[in-house]
Amino acid sequence: MGLAPRGAGLVSLGWRGAGGAGDDGVPAGVPAAPASPFETDLDRLPLEATALGTRSVHGVELVVRRADGVRGARLAVRGEVALEVTDEGAHLACPLADDVVGLGVTLHLRTSRQHDVVEKWADVRNDGGQPVELLRAWGGAFNLPVGPGAVVRLLTGAWSRELAAVDTDLAAGTLSIGSRQGITSHTYAPLVGVRRRPRGGDGAVPGVPPADHPAARFGVALAWSGSWRLAVDAVPAAPHVRVSAGLDDESGVHTLGPGQVLTTPALLGTRVEGTADDLAHAWHGYQRTLARSTGPEHRPVVYNSWYATGFDVRAEHQLALADVAGDVGAEVFVVDDGWFRGRTSDAAGLGDWEADPARLPRGLGQIADGVRARGMRFGLWIEPEGVSPDSDLYRAHPDWVHRVAGRAPTTQRRQLVLDLGRPDVEEWVLGTLRRLLGPGDVSYLKWDMNRSVTDGGQPGAGGDDWSWRHTTAYYRVLEALRAEFPHVTVEACAGGGGRVDAAVLARTDVVWPSDETGPRDRLAIQHGFLEAYPPWVMSSWVTDMPDRVDTEPSSLAFRFVVAMSGVLGIGADLLRWDEATRATARDLVRLYTSLRDVVHHGRVRRHGTPADAASAVQYTTPGSVVVLAWRRAAGGQGYRVRLQDLDPAARYRVRGTPVVHEGGALATDGLPVGWRWGDCDVVVLDREP
Ligand code: DGJ
Repeated sequence: MGLAPRGAGLVSLGWRGAGGAGDDGVPAGVPAAPASPFETDLDRLPLEATALGTRSVHGVELVVRRADGVRGARLAVRGEVALEVTDEGAHLACPLADDVVGLGVTLHLRTSRQHDVVEKWADVRNDGGQPVELLRAWGGAFNLPVGPGAVVRLLTGAWSRELAAVDTDLAAGTLSIGSRQGITSHTYAPLVGVRRRPRGGDGAVPGVPPADHPAARFGVALAWSGSWRLAVDAVPAAPHVRVSAGLDDESGVHTLGPGQVLTTPALLGTRVEGTADDLAHAWHGYQRTLARSTGPEHRPVVYNSWYATGFDVRAEHQLALADVAGDVGAEVFVVDDGWFRGRTSDAAGLGDWEADPARLPRGLGQIADGVRARGMRFGLWIEPEGVSPDSDLYRAHPDWVHRVAGRAPTTQRRQLVLDLGRPDVEEWVLGTLRRLLGPGDVSYLKWDMNRSVTDGGQPGAGGDDWSWRHTTAYYRVLEALRAEFPHVTVEACAGGGGRVDAAVLARTDVVWPSDETGPRDRLAIQHGFLEAYPPWVMSSWVTDMPDRVDTEPSSLAFRFVVAMSGVLGIGADLLRWDEATRATARDLVRLYTSLRDVVHHGRVRRHGTPADAASAVQYTTPGSVVVLAWRRAAGGQGYRVRLQDLDPAARYRVRGTPVVHEGGALATDGLPVGWRWGDCDVVVLDREP
């Protein structure tokens, strides 16, 4: 970082300690502005988050307006740029202001010695006497020296098809992704991978100095779970591509009253030289610091009854399932949707969070006691933000839902959404959770959210910041749960992977990546998941559900090995499994618990993709390596996995056998896969002392 000319903020100088700036704050690698009346020097520079009005031609993060017609902000440094360096890392805070608008902006940048991710955010303060509208309030920008243009990797999809990697060749222009849904979204993960466009020869571009290593790969992510937008701005001929993001600026406007402050969501950035897996490793290293723990205490083997019983939740039936679940090795038994008053279909009941007296006359305690007697913890599904029009809650508080004046609110999945941003709703949700968790029966909570927020906000409530209010309340409730019920594991879910992001990972223990549990389709989704998020949060169940897209048959073991890639669970109707199937399941759960520590703590390498004839995922810790491999009926003959991250001089024994391989040979010749279960295999290697 350096100071921009005339104190107009901060300018990015480089990523590797290379570069440097002259007195004018111009970083090495940035050509002097051509003599043109159409751009200012600030437009040419890789400025940190800046405002419309400070520069007016190229991208900005802050757009402000006052009702009296004052528009834009000419930001300038006011006071000391504070840099605090400790044993943990560094924190830089740069105070900026515009006295005409009455606006103060403090840009924050934080690094840590524990990981390679830079966090950026801003406090935007109204120091004036009248309200200021923030038409865009993004707290950070990363200027990536890969230009002109970039290849941008997105993780994209839809419900049940989340997280497919798509590479977009962005020669010039702005690529914009986001969510207007009030949740993170299934459509786009809130992150991008950015690298240089392929170029011939030595990669030189006439007129643009080479700015970074050709294999440099950057990741930028937004830590936010409400509506958002991320823009990758590739200005023609510019050496930097600018990535910035924050609260969605199409569906929301934040108005700051005098004295009020908005702290923006954090924008995260990292740089590696290498592959998508190297970038994933940088993200995983950061996410490890977000997790309160990565051990098995908050990632038990789950049995979840949703696919077995649907809305038909009866105590005897659940306990019959619990008999088998405990027997095959489940550590927690989770009763999903359908346990509460009136919930016999998706048409009713959301909001009436009491055990249904018709089907559970002796309450949840009966199932909880029975589950504990079978040696498992008891878990419960809830959708705190959901409300059915046919519920006592809605009849009592029709005004609590997100809605627009004069219009009937839109139902999706026959339900509405509570406006969690209302203080009375937040208090009621927290009170409901305290009532359910207080007695101590429930030690695992699955928090679901099964629709988008449409018609966001409240008539007469003023402002268009409903998503910000809803999301910050969601965070407060999760934080209160964690503080008050630290023994309760929280699984985040939004109809599968609709709410997965760094902010959720900081406040929950595991996430449900997708409602797709067909094993081959799931494998593809998990392939994308691991590119952005770590295995210790990736909840994955073995069910009997078919694949929708990749319908090639697969074995029961295949399903288990897919689920073993993260946090294994079971969601099948166990009463339909015969004794032989249960015995296989028992063995595979035991295998998983013996290697879970390596899967959850090892460095992840993906070998091939699930679309290939054979593919594998490797997890490496200093002492052990786990390789999970899958193949198609006609493929993978003679498959060898060229392992990475091993010590070439060390020897590795195949667990349970006398076979020993040299690390160097495993990297060059590869690990032979024997296909123990026909279509899949698990190999564990232990480093010889
Ligand atoms: C969507 C979730 O992703 C499923 O696992 C299940 O909990 C259903 N909702 C229940 O309504």
